[in-house]
Amino acid sequence: MKNYQIAVLAGDGIGPEVMREAIKVLRAVEKKFSMKFNLEEAPVGWAGIDAAGKALPDNTLALCKRSESILFGSVGLPDRDPTIPKEERPERAALLRLRKEFGLFANLRPVRLPKELAHACPLRPERQGEGLDILVVRELTGGMYFGQPKKTEQVSPGVQRAIDTMVYTTPEIERIAHVAFKAARLRRKKVTSIDKANVLENGVLWRDVVTTVGKQYADVALEHMFVDNAAMQLMLKPTQFDVMLCENMFGDILSDEAAALAGSLGMLPSASLGATTGEQTFGFYEPAGGTAPDIAGKNLANPIAQILSTSLMLRYSFSLNEAAAAIDTAVSKVIAAGLRTGDIYSPTENGAKKTGTREMGDAIAAAV
Ligand code: IPM
Ligand code: MG
Repeated sequence: MKNYQIAVLAGDGIGPEVMREAIKVLRAVEKKFSMKFNLEEAPVGWAGIDAAGKALPDNTLALCKRSESILFGSVGLPDRDPTIPKEERPERAALLRLRKEFGLFANLRPVRLPKELAHACPLRPERQGEGLDILVVRELTGGMYFGQPKKTEQVSPGVQRAIDTMVYTTPEIERIAHVAFKAARLRRKKVTSIDKANVLENGVLWRDVVTTVGKQYADVALEHMFVDNAAMQLMLKPTQFDVMLCENMFGDILSDEAAALAGSLGMLPSASLGATTGEQTFGFYEPAGGTAPDIAGKNLANPIAQILSTSLMLRYSFSLNEAAAAIDTAVSKVIAAGLRTGDIYSPTENGAKKTGTREMGDAIAAAV
């Protein structure tokens, strides 16, 4: 029996409690499909700083290096983050560092609004169509988040100048474009490529390269859209989108906007993928939401994003499609049965049962 080696980094805030539910579900999958996941846990974020003085302790990084994938919770605590230099804060020192270290250039964020949760979507029902289903493909290791120079300098007394650099090369755009077109082939065969080609050099190059790559995918429709218009179109007519292909910062922003349409960040998983070797793709799987310290430790958090992240892991890193589908189906069943954590609960919804983090995890594991 193959034993999948997985680094489990729960992190801060609600990370540990939603991770516990995801592990529960993975154990249920093991039983059902007679497979074995070797889940090894290690601290990251503030948990890493408290345990070993660094947001990404050496032992945690070593564990990631000898694992086949990383299941991640969330890091950062707004109260504590400002107390240390910005380079050492969990977002940069752990999250961005891991993305770069493992070359996780492709971030996939599926946004789905199940019809049962129509009430949680801020848009009027007529704008929701038959339910929303968008895949945001975000470039994750380039652009402004990593470009050099990146610094703040003193220009004159009382005047500082901050510099970030947006930079992309042809190969970086090509590889993420291929990910988007391939993903579109498995969906509704449409890619909307987002840029700011009317102002940015990066936008012009992005549009050219995506157009060229698109010629290899004659069966996929390609459309280009300026990022400001895309932000508006998401509010006006989100059903027009299938795959949205974005550079790093635009994808960061638009994926949160799209996420809001799905009712709650607590529902959204994500996969960050590196290069594929042989049959396996090294991947990093995390919920799209943050650490939510205000509700941490209170059994209030929605574990579904973390649970669906494990399903993405089974699918993308290990090609365990049947097991992944079992998790997705279990989540759908539990939603259909009316179980709701606070973020997706509405007192006016018929048959809705308000539940805690643990009860939601138990129900999904049982449904598997
Ligand atoms: C995300 C987050 C991160 C990002 C932050 C925490 C660095 O917003 O994953 O979308 O900007 O990429
Ligand atoms: Mg973000």
